[in-house]
Amino acid sequence: MATMAGNHDLVRYNAVARALHAGIAVMVIFNLVTGIAGDALEDFWNPFPLHKGTGMVILVLSLARIGWRMTWTMPAWPSTMGRKQQMVAKLTHVVLYALMLILPVTGWIMSSANSKYPISIWGLFDWPKLAVAKGSALAEVAHEGHEILGYLMAGLVVLHVAAALHHHFIIKDNVLRRML
Ligand code: HEM
Ligand code: HEM
Repeated sequence: MATMAGNHDLVRYNAVARALHAGIAVMVIFNLVTGIAGDALEDFWNPFPLHKGTGMVILVLSLARIGWRMTWTMPAWPSTMGRKQQMVAKLTHVVLYALMLILPVTGWIMSSANSKYPISIWGLFDWPKLAVAKGSALAEVAHEGHEILGYLMAGLVVLHVAAALHHHFIIKDNVLRRML
């Protein structure tokens, strides 16, 4: 039944996993773009209220996604992937999961220290703030961490998407299709 290089019948990730992956991916890309280009955009549009609300939604969905992830086993890697490649993919995924939690939490901490602006969830309601003093060491570390890890996440997402496209267009296996 092998119709594509080294592959068998298409065994996809389950529907909930695929939906959560797609929804979170769109929101993470939005937050990376608005975070990095935010200051440049601010003359005609301040993206940060939306950035903050979307970031908190990412946190909630990522917790749900990780909880759900613990209830099933992923489809086996295709035979086109060697052990080293599998390890790199796995490590990238684990770090992406960690960043999907750490980025929102550091953003939440630093924005809590700035009492002037609310953290609004898309204009629907205000997200509670943590008890963090402005100028405190925690607020500073969170700010610094948000910036450095934000750039790390942007790099990993580029790598991750490049790997997915490489599988699809160059190796021509099912790795991308099983997540769509
Ligand atoms: C996965 C979710 C998130 C991602 C990927 C993300 C990414 C980024 C990135 C890349 C930057 C630019 C860093 C810099 O150049 O300083 C940034 C800035 C910022 N983020 Fe996030 N962020 C996320 C969630 C949040 C959340 C939940 C909040 C607040 C509730 C938040 C608040 C901010 C603020 C206020 C800035 C501007 C910081 C400054 O002025 O230096 N972010 N974000
Ligand atoms: C932008 C933010 C993104 C994040 C944070 C992210 C995160 C992840 C994570 C954590 C996994 C591991 C799933 C598991 O638990 O097994 C995964 C799998 C996958 N992602 Fe993404 N992803 C993003 C965007 C994308 C995009 C845009 C594409 C497509 C071009 C893509 C294609 C895939 C594929 C094909 C897999 C399955 C890999 C495999 O089966 O080994 N991802 N992603």
